Amino acid sequence: MDINKLIAIRRAVYPTQYNKGEIDKETLEQLLENANMAPTHKMTQPWFFKVYKNEAKARLGQAMVQAMEAHNPDDLRFDFKKKKTLEKCRLSNCILGIFMKRSTAVSIPEWEEIAAVAMAVQNIWLSCVDQKIGCYWSSPQYTAQMHSFFDLNANERCLGLMYMGKFDHTTLPIKERVSMASKVEWLV
Ligand SMILES: Cc1cc2nc3c(=O)[nH]c(=O)nc-3n(C[C@H](O)[C@H](O)[C@H](O)COP(=O)(O)O)c2cc1C
Repeated sequence: MDINKLIAIRRAVYPTQYNKGEIDKETLEQLLENANMAPTHKMTQPWFFKVYKNEAKARLGQAMVQAMEAHNPDDLRFDFKKKKTLEKCRLSNCILGIFMKRSTAVSIPEWEEIAAVAMAVQNIWLSCVDQKIGCYWSSPQYTAQMHSFFDLNANERCLGLMYMGKFDHTTLPIKERVSMASKVEWLV
């Protein structure tokens, strides 16, 4: 697909929009290979991922609900959010945990490592368009409470989850951006 078109039609696609199609292992492996080609300062390659499918996906949902409660025990909307979270897990064919590993060998600012992970995620997101997979990056506030569930080391951090499912439609309404002209200064 033409690169301009692919970028233009990429959308955040939510679990209620997914169909029941299976995302096969080969496709997931290719998406992850594409993530691995992201640019990375000093080659620290700070991204890593965990792939949740089937029963593991259901366990992830339960862990999310627990973390949500621990993060905000007085949340009056807890029951609603719990139901919504478990539903999102059920409707997704696959969920990727998105993680950053801070380099201990070379010193670069954390923002550069977060940026590199985001570029890896964008590679996955764009590749999903090509594969007729809907996905979106979710960044819940309670992922710090899931450190032990994710089995992370001290220099590792969860940067959110990518919900994924096969998706029938190729064009969704664009969420309008403020014009690029207002965000660029040409000094020529
Ligand atoms: C770092 C990051 C975190 C995001 N977190 C969430 C989120 O927690 N919940 C959500 O609904 N969308 C989330 N999104 C998706 C955005 O809401 C979505 O990209 C935005 O509305 C623009 O829509 P589009 O991607 O379809 O163009 C996130 C996107 C990024 C880049």
